Amino acid sequence: MHSGTMTSSFNDNLVFQRCVIPQCGGTNSLDDTSFCCPKCGGIMDVAYDWDRLPVPKSLKDFEAKWMLRHQPLPFSGVWRFYELLPFAPPSSVLTIGEGQTLLRQSDHVAQYVGVNNGNLFLQYEGMNPSGSFKDNGMTAAFTHAHMTGAKRAACASTGNTSASLAVYCSATGLMRGIVFIGSGKISYGKLAQALDHGALTIQIAGDFDDAMQRVQQIAKKMGIYLVNSINPFRLEGQKTVMYRVLEALRWESPDWIVVPGGNLGNSSSFGKAFIELKQLGLISKVPRLAVINAAGANTFNLLTNMNSVSWNKGEPNKPVMNQFFTEMDTQNRRASTIASAIEINRPVNLVKGLRAIEFCNGVVRETNDQEIMDAKAKVGAGGMGCEPASAASVAGAKKLRAEGVIAPSDRVVCILTAHQMKDSTATVAYHSSDQKTFDEVLGVRGVRRAGFANRAVQVPNSLEDIVKAIEVYA
Ligand code: F0G
Repeated sequence: MHSGTMTSSFNDNLVFQRCVIPQCGGTNSLDDTSFCCPKCGGIMDVAYDWDRLPVPKSLKDFEAKWMLRHQPLPFSGVWRFYELLPFAPPSSVLTIGEGQTLLRQSDHVAQYVGVNNGNLFLQYEGMNPSGSFKDNGMTAAFTHAHMTGAKRAACASTGNTSASLAVYCSATGLMRGIVFIGSGKISYGKLAQALDHGALTIQIAGDFDDAMQRVQQIAKKMGIYLVNSINPFRLEGQKTVMYRVLEALRWESPDWIVVPGGNLGNSSSFGKAFIELKQLGLISKVPRLAVINAAGANTFNLLTNMNSVSWNKGEPNKPVMNQFFTEMDTQNRRASTIASAIEINRPVNLVKGLRAIEFCNGVVRETNDQEIMDAKAKVGAGGMGCEPASAASVAGAKKLRAEGVIAPSDRVVCILTAHQMKDSTATVAYHSSDQKTFDEVLGVRGVRRAGFANRAVQVPNSLEDIVKAIEVYA
């Protein structure tokens, strides 16, 4: 671990920041931390001069790294793919061993979704050190933060980004973490992580969208490094989720990647991963991308499907988008879903999300809280645990299958973005035999049934009754 400033071998000629809108052409140097286009004020990409960087000839070449697992970079499921995100000198990389994740085939979930046995895969990002996909991005953002000499890092969060930042700060001891969360909007599992790992936790009277606006102001005003997914370096790390999916499928692209959409960081980074892999000649087939909103936080679905907003060669219809958000403000429409992680109405990566949908011939859908909780129970019964937001991917795949957009013979990868224990309140409420618990947690969100509940069996403390219960139920 090195401290200090940018190394001259990683200068702006090889890596820099570039406006997401190609026609704009705005650029920033590698060490800029405004993450804002100097020309149009839009969001930035990390851009590489691939012609002058060593790129592997084939994705299979990465397998050689497996033998070097005793070293920190090849051990990391993010930095094992270093050549595809080479913005930092290897000696500057900060890793805590993130990305040791699993792609597991699940026939139980395949049957629920309606695809053929053998064709449904769950990419389990809950196995990361902080229990969510965020660590893939945090190692990259943290590395960049440290390269720029940052001593404090901040984020707004629905819980998982804050947990991840808190873990990186405490594990490395290199930075003070400051997290902004909306009041009453975060699950206890995630709040527990921010507190336990020692982050300064600021609960503001507002929701995630409010917290996001505030943290951007604070970061600018106080010169604090921002690690939300508006930070393009974070998205570089999140590209590697796709590399690991391809790796687990023996480098063969699936037909579909299905991912929950909140701030659209994952969708954006997956899109960028495939744009680059195609450009570098490392894949021939690009999977289709399905981004799934929660119905109570459905900006992306409404804009793309109801308002025909698209990437449009880098010129998405700005007046329509602006009007959409103005109306949202006038009507004071707030995001509301049991999938608290994606309770977001103003996705900061909207334009990158549009680009991803365009490049990957993607689709956008929304699923309601009932569908999300049922899908979550099915994922659990199939042997993997996830939080509600993650299950939106499975609920969305089921919907797309029912519409005939996904075919039974398609190979489908659903991203399980975070661990089951992140939000045990929702899980226990779903499986609870106590109607009051169910109503208080889920009923208020419009969840009416727990069709796949596995209720605890209440028995008197007597040997005979316990034996009877086991004979009846097992
Ligand atoms: N799933 C989980 C479990 C999440 O925590 C998030 C985002 C998403 C999906 C959505 O991902 O923003 O890339 O579209 N959570 C953020 C947070 C916003 O603060 O933890 P996205």
